[in-house]
Amino acid sequence: MTNKFTVMSPEEAASFIKNDHNVGFSGFTAAGCPKAVPAAIARKAEAEHAKGNPFKIGMFTGASTGDSIDGNLTRANAVKFRTPYQSNKELRQSMNSGETAYFDLHLSHLAQMIRYGFLGKVDVAIIEAADVNESGEIIPTCGVGIAPTICQCAEKIIIELNRKHPAATRGMHDIYTPADPPLRREIPIYKANDRIGTPYIKVEPSKILGIVETELENEGGAFTPEDEITMRIGDNVAGFLVNEMAQGRIPKSFLPVQSGVGNIANAVLGAMGGNTSIPEFNIYTEVIQDAVITLMKQNRVRFASGCSLTVSNPTINEIYGNLDFFKDKLLLRPQELSNNPEVIRRLGLITINTALEADIFANINSTHVVGTKMMNGIGGSGDFTRNAYLSIFTTPSVAKGTQISAIVPMVSHHDHSEHSVSVLITEHGVADLRGKSPAQRAHEIIENCAHPEYRQLLRDYLKLGKGHTPHDLKSCFAFHNAFNETGDMHNAKF
Ligand code: COA
Repeated sequence: MTNKFTVMSPEEAASFIKNDHNVGFSGFTAAGCPKAVPAAIARKAEAEHAKGNPFKIGMFTGASTGDSIDGNLTRANAVKFRTPYQSNKELRQSMNSGETAYFDLHLSHLAQMIRYGFLGKVDVAIIEAADVNESGEIIPTCGVGIAPTICQCAEKIIIELNRKHPAATRGMHDIYTPADPPLRREIPIYKANDRIGTPYIKVEPSKILGIVETELENEGGAFTPEDEITMRIGDNVAGFLVNEMAQGRIPKSFLPVQSGVGNIANAVLGAMGGNTSIPEFNIYTEVIQDAVITLMKQNRVRFASGCSLTVSNPTINEIYGNLDFFKDKLLLRPQELSNNPEVIRRLGLITINTALEADIFANINSTHVVGTKMMNGIGGSGDFTRNAYLSIFTTPSVAKGTQISAIVPMVSHHDHSEHSVSVLITEHGVADLRGKSPAQRAHEIIENCAHPEYRQLLRDYLKLGKGHTPHDLKSCFAFHNAFNETGDMHNAKF
């Protein structure tokens, strides 16, 4: 029901956005993001720039977005400030050139930081919705992110009502905002499928400026098919977990699984699903990808809680066409619940995330290419890794052919410390780091995970160091220096 609200064009909606506004966008990844209004804001920015007027906005989103938001607004040179995680090539370039100020943080922190007032006010929230009623109950589409908080904090709200998402998805969301300190209590999620909130975001109807009706497809990309490397990583993860069960270190009923973003994460879940020594399991994660839906249909995944359904368009259409089957198996929550440290620790998650590089002592760089250029952001990897029952990092052992070793003497940027990482897995094998000293960890990682072409170089480096963590500070970046100078880490000299 929408007739209480003014229906407007994207241009009319964009007219409410002024230079220097902070705008909150719904969604998490491309899932759940508004599309028509951001595109109109970008056109407005271009028109203002053509007249010689300044027009840039600050942007709060759940995580990465679709091209309609990050792509359009970056191309229109309309982004003054951006947080958090992103994955858009043009925005990445703009951040790395210093054009756009980017603030990267743990995704579980963002909503509360906005409520605490740490990041300034939210002028307007733009929310993609499957439905909205006269009482101000908004049903988000397939990504929740920080939508409840930006609706709460924004002065005004614009709804992008997208008819591609059926109103019958009401019931697939679990909206709950923890009280802020000193009043916060425990978050009462004791099992992955516990529902603790409402199926809608409730707002004061008078805050809604109007509704833009659309019928736009999700901007979700398809996954590249699994290759030999990702399949071997997936098999190594599955084999490791089966052995952990056999040793009695994972309960026979298994534990809920979090798995990161991208092709490796998809392949790992596929391998776990395909390994029938692993019982049917639950997912408690941030991003629910295609592999989860496939495993649900095969009765390998019982239930998935996440903050976005980041699936390809055929898969989202399949879910919407079979809501009777999927609705009680999927729950979409705000990211401060999906990534909440308290809940992650309580449920005992097995977490599986991807590193750009790892060092021989198990420190992880998830974000910065050769130490300086931002790739995407830390996302939820820190929320999950730091609080996991068992935290696993995966990475192919090499990149760019074999010119980059993902295993290096010292990480060139530090996202996750040796204290939080239990296991490192590449296509070559598994380094079990639990209970091991730095020197023992280095042995595990070099002999089991590094690419064979880099093992001797890493052994040579290790001989140079002294002390509890045997680093040699003069040569710890020899791999990176060699890459910067010659384009190939094989040329590292100590
Ligand atoms: N040094 C330099 N470049 C490297 C590299 C390294 N050690 N390792 C990989 N790369 C390059 C790759 O060659 C590739 O470059 P290209 O795009 O030019 O081909 C790029 O970095 C990304 O590699 P790719 O294999 O496509 O990445 P992915 O899809 O597996 O994602 C991360 C890997 C780390 C970028 C991604 O998982 C991420 O952003 N993680 C942080 C957030 C996170 O973990 N979120 C999940 C929490 S729920």
